[in-house]
Amino acid sequence: MNPAQDALSKYIEGHRDAHLQELCELLRIPSVSTKSEHKGDIEKAANWVANKLRSVGMSKVEIIPTKMHPLVYAESLAAPGKPTVLFYGHYDVQPAEPLNLWTSPAFEPTVRNGNLYGRGTADDKGQVHIHLAAFESLMKSTGKLPVNIKVLIEGEEEVGSANLWDFVQANKSRLATDVLVVSDTSMLALGVPSVTYALRGLVYYQVEITGAAQDLHSGVFGGAAPNPITILCELFAKMHDKNFRVTVPGFYDQVAKLSAAERKSLAKLPFKAKDFLKTVGSPGLAGEKGFSVAEQVWCRPTLELNGIWGGYTGEGSKTVIPAKAYAKVSCRLVPNQDPDKITRQVEKYIRNLLPKTVTCKFEVLSTGKPWIAPYSHPYFEVAHKALEKGFGKRAVFIREGGSIPFVTQMHDTFKVPCILIGFGLPDENAHAPDEHLSLENYFGGIRAMAQFYLGMAAL
Ligand code: BES
Ligand code: MN
Ligand code: MN
Repeated sequence: MNPAQDALSKYIEGHRDAHLQELCELLRIPSVSTKSEHKGDIEKAANWVANKLRSVGMSKVEIIPTKMHPLVYAESLAAPGKPTVLFYGHYDVQPAEPLNLWTSPAFEPTVRNGNLYGRGTADDKGQVHIHLAAFESLMKSTGKLPVNIKVLIEGEEEVGSANLWDFVQANKSRLATDVLVVSDTSMLALGVPSVTYALRGLVYYQVEITGAAQDLHSGVFGGAAPNPITILCELFAKMHDKNFRVTVPGFYDQVAKLSAAERKSLAKLPFKAKDFLKTVGSPGLAGEKGFSVAEQVWCRPTLELNGIWGGYTGEGSKTVIPAKAYAKVSCRLVPNQDPDKITRQVEKYIRNLLPKTVTCKFEVLSTGKPWIAPYSHPYFEVAHKALEKGFGKRAVFIREGGSIPFVTQMHDTFKVPCILIGFGLPDENAHAPDEHLSLENYFGGIRAMAQFYLGMAAL
């Protein structure tokens, strides 16, 4: 091993505890982006990230206000002739509720059985910190960052990244880069380092159905007045057929056909449907007929109810026909579905299916396009070698079912390679109680990413 590599390894191994303790500081800040009561915590987390970026030697660090939550942007452009890498991540987290289902409190990070538990450990503070720790390790052991680095850490990812688009469009030269690197995805399984080459898009709707002018006594009016909850249930019962296909006319028209070669390579992955079922924890699975589980969650579009409510749900009984019923509905989209087109189709179908006894308000809450890209660029070989050094195994290429709006925005705007290296695991409860991150993946991630930045400099 050469002396620089040796110093780097020693630094990383010697700072395991310090890195972990530092990550815990960030995890203790409840930076929940969807709730206004956490505005102060959002500011705190943005400041924390900015201070850390300053301390690892970034020359320019800025906290940039947006219409909602601030962005943290930093640069170190001290490697003339070397490539520029833009690293993106998010410091905001999902709400921790229901709190009573956490084994240890969501914002008091705790190590148990080789995992670090807490909101944001896997999604995405732990993964962001992998890069921050890699920058620090490179800086402290070699005296410099090996490539030009731009860092963008946002605070609105979990609420749709709506203000990011304006920032990207207004700062094209500032964000110009040779490659985008993101760690906000998962590995296929423990011990299987993975690079993600496709994400699903997302459109999210709220539907409000109104019948009567006000709630009604169900004895006086029941039997004649329309019941919006019943109508909502009938509506959504019609949205899938017996093979779990979405019945919205035209829904699948734009879906890019999976090539035989891609199906074959997906089928070869060590994706275990049995493990998947175990993670889900239900008595059985309900996927679209004719597709493997991996294809169902990575390559096929969906329409899902995320929540329905209305009427009386409190203690005891209340005899009432509610005036309104509500649903939150999302569609995951795959290449080449267009979010606006899908929205028009879904709204039209819903309006056609509803009886004339009710009215309907249909709102779009967020929109993000699907993403898929080739992985043949030499930068991917750098990622391979880095992951091999960090985890002792060659990585696999996977697709994933989640959405990261920024990846599509960057890819559409700059047409640069996007390298998505995830260190989470599918069963780490992202967005749910007892979210955690495997410490093996956290420390392996620091090793791998330090090697990645070094490898980019050696190209
Ligand atoms: N990190 C996830 C996205 C993700 C999860 C990608 C798993 C691949 C595998 C991200 O933080 C997220 O939750 N995104 C939202 C996007 C939405 C709020 C616009 C999602 O996918 O629901
Ligand atoms: Mn995330
Ligand atoms: Mn998330």
